[in-house]
Amino acid sequence: MKVNSSHAMLPHIDAYLVAHAIPQEFPYAYFSPGRINIIGEHTDYTGGLVMPASIDKGIQFYARQREGAALKLHAVDLNESFELALPVRPEKTGLLWVDYLAGIVYEFQLQGFEVPALEIVFGGNVPRGSGMSSSAALEGGMAFLLNEIVGAGISRPQLAVLCRRSSNSYIGVPTGIMDQFASLNGSPDGPIKLNCDTLQFSPVLANTPDCTWLLINSMVTHELGSSEYPVRVRECAAALAAIKQQYPEVPCLSQATKDQLEAVKNKLDETIYRRAYYVIAENERVHAMETALSRGDIARAGALLNATHRGLSDDFEVSCEEVDFLQQETINHFPDTVMGARIMGGGFGGCTINLVKTVGIPALKTHLLSAYFDAHGQRPEFYEVNIGAGTHAI
Ligand code: GLA
Repeated sequence: MKVNSSHAMLPHIDAYLVAHAIPQEFPYAYFSPGRINIIGEHTDYTGGLVMPASIDKGIQFYARQREGAALKLHAVDLNESFELALPVRPEKTGLLWVDYLAGIVYEFQLQGFEVPALEIVFGGNVPRGSGMSSSAALEGGMAFLLNEIVGAGISRPQLAVLCRRSSNSYIGVPTGIMDQFASLNGSPDGPIKLNCDTLQFSPVLANTPDCTWLLINSMVTHELGSSEYPVRVRECAAALAAIKQQYPEVPCLSQATKDQLEAVKNKLDETIYRRAYYVIAENERVHAMETALSRGDIARAGALLNATHRGLSDDFEVSCEEVDFLQQETINHFPDTVMGARIMGGGFGGCTINLVKTVGIPALKTHLLSAYFDAHGQRPEFYEVNIGAGTHAI
């Protein structure tokens, strides 16, 4: 797997600065990556295990101090600017990209830090709606930047906690911590295994020399807030509440056992049971994946991905027709190239993540471009992922 650590200013940011006559004098410059997730999906908000990696696609931030009592924000990709008065108020502005940044400022204020007036320019290369978590990159980058500028000294894991709180309370989307944590704490050496209950994490050694992680974008876009994501969060909480009635010692759904779930099955709604079954099984698959990758057992790793997809599609019900098509088409027609595939991220669209033998990628692309178009009237996009460093200065 290649590592890309060169981060010259993205050409479209450069062009934006020139077009708006903004001087290129930024004492602060950071890169905040997007993420992939190999396995451990919809387990973070149940205190479970996840296996994400930060990637070489992300968002660049450039900042300098300014006069006045406002943040001057420039979203290069949207060609939009906004002046955000300081201190930031608890009410949202209504512009989503501004609110993602405002929420982070608000969290710093709550912790007693005074955020100075700044001019901030940012832009990136994470395909939007693809499930590579550009919103976490936005939050994490802003948190990292403020941490440096105000000298807050907050650790990377705690910055992720702060970002999650902003997502949950300021933005109002009940996400877990995986995306922000991966973006801020990722390593160019490979994925991490993170326990979302304790926030302990360790590097995962992947011994898969002829393979790469290929993302295939269904081009079906999703917004977590308006999807069924919050419903799944509530369903998992309901399952935990039922298990706790009989087993009060169980701290979170991911740490319940299949036996405990079976013991309360007759008290659970059938849907809630399936959601919980998926979560508990998925948590076990994260351990199994770590073993498979370290042994270079790509067949087993692929089988685990496929099992996760079945769980996410049938039991957790967060897939969609288009993504199911891509997953099936790849594993059925290219068994020698695609070791396994599954939907990645929050669901209801976005990308599949595929463990593929690099040599077979061109033929796979050619086939899918026409097969997916014939079935769903769209051309998928392909991203060969390079794992990259977590948030850093550039
Ligand atoms: C989204 C959320 C994460 C996580 C995933 C599903 O990406 O932001 O917290 O729940 O979905 O694993």
